Amino acid sequence: MQENQQWFREAGLGMLIHWGVYSVPGRGEWCLYQEKMPLEEYDRNIPAFTAENYDPDAWAKLAFEAGMRYMVLTTKHHDGFCLFETGTTKRNAVEQGPKRDLVKEYVEACRRYGLKVGLYFSWPDWSIPAFFNGPEQDSEAWNAYIDLIYKQVRELCSNYGKIDILWYDKVCGQCGNVDLNADDLRASELNSMVRSLQPDIMINDRSLLPEDFYTAEQNIRAPGDPDRLWEACLTMNRHWGYFPADNHYKSVSEIVHLLTGIAYSRGNMLINVGPKPDGTLRSEESERLEAIGRWMKVNGEAVRGVNPCPAVDGGTYGCSAIKGNTVYLFVHWWHRSIITIPDCEIEFIRGSILGSGDNLKITRKENHIELSGLPERAPDEFCTVIKLEF
Ligand code: GLC
Repeated sequence: MQENQQWFREAGLGMLIHWGVYSVPGRGEWCLYQEKMPLEEYDRNIPAFTAENYDPDAWAKLAFEAGMRYMVLTTKHHDGFCLFETGTTKRNAVEQGPKRDLVKEYVEACRRYGLKVGLYFSWPDWSIPAFFNGPEQDSEAWNAYIDLIYKQVRELCSNYGKIDILWYDKVCGQCGNVDLNADDLRASELNSMVRSLQPDIMINDRSLLPEDFYTAEQNIRAPGDPDRLWEACLTMNRHWGYFPADNHYKSVSEIVHLLTGIAYSRGNMLINVGPKPDGTLRSEESERLEAIGRWMKVNGEAVRGVNPCPAVDGGTYGCSAIKGNTVYLFVHWWHRSIITIPDCEIEFIRGSILGSGDNLKITRKENHIELSGLPERAPDEFCTVIKLEF
């Protein structure tokens, strides 16, 4: 495996950040489209997109302490407003609103915390009519549209040093009325340009080409091909962009449960936050990330670069994963002092609860294994992990 594939495969966890002008109205990142708002009206929100408390180091610190290995920031979402300096449009954060290159500061913060740098970039740009008209209706305007995308992607890949992930967002039937293919986007040519500028970059599958990794959105289903790298991106509440009316947050246990499910099927979890217009996170988000960090500090090894473990399957405790000579049991449902692993032929030589040095008693009984000497109550409030070595 190449080095870039390797870090991605072993990352386990990353942070997706949806932040932009849409954070001002606070009704999610689709409000321009869903409310059929004229662009001029939407753009009246730009001055209130101040970023006055923007401290990307605070985001990066939180991500790092949550055990994350990478971050992905919306450099341009479907509204077309660029968080970076660009020669292509005045609708950018250097000329309006924050009057700062938000991407530059973000990239530097990621690096300070040793996090891989991911840039989200949307193919759809609702500020440009050519996107809705498509290539057929007006091919000249369409070509100009794709040229603009090229220029912006080139800026992103040239002006900020090493970029680790180009995280495109897709063109879908919902956000435009055209049925596009990779040729319409000149995606193959664009991605070659990206790779010539950034030889180690990982590109997701949203340029209508498979590229380096698959992204599942709001679900945790792994791709059919076990060798395909993948990631599941998930909201923490039910929206990507800041939406204060949405308090439907996943609990920390739920997030950890999803994380373990993604990990044992070889994927990474990219969990989203939607900062406020000033750049700060909702406490609901930062508190969850801090709790995830406490869990990851003890259990992180069990969700990085692991594989499914068919030899340890079934039972009623939860699920398992394997890495080298170690099997991890994710005990979502604590059974008091005994756990049974059915139909297991592996001879384990040592068992312990992650975060505690105590050895467990391992007893082979006919066709199952019994783990005993466990405390009555789950040692970890979110998910206890048992490490079994063979
Ligand atoms: C969808 C949405 C978009 C969001 C993305 C995250 O494509 O259109 O708003 O950024 O999912 O995966």
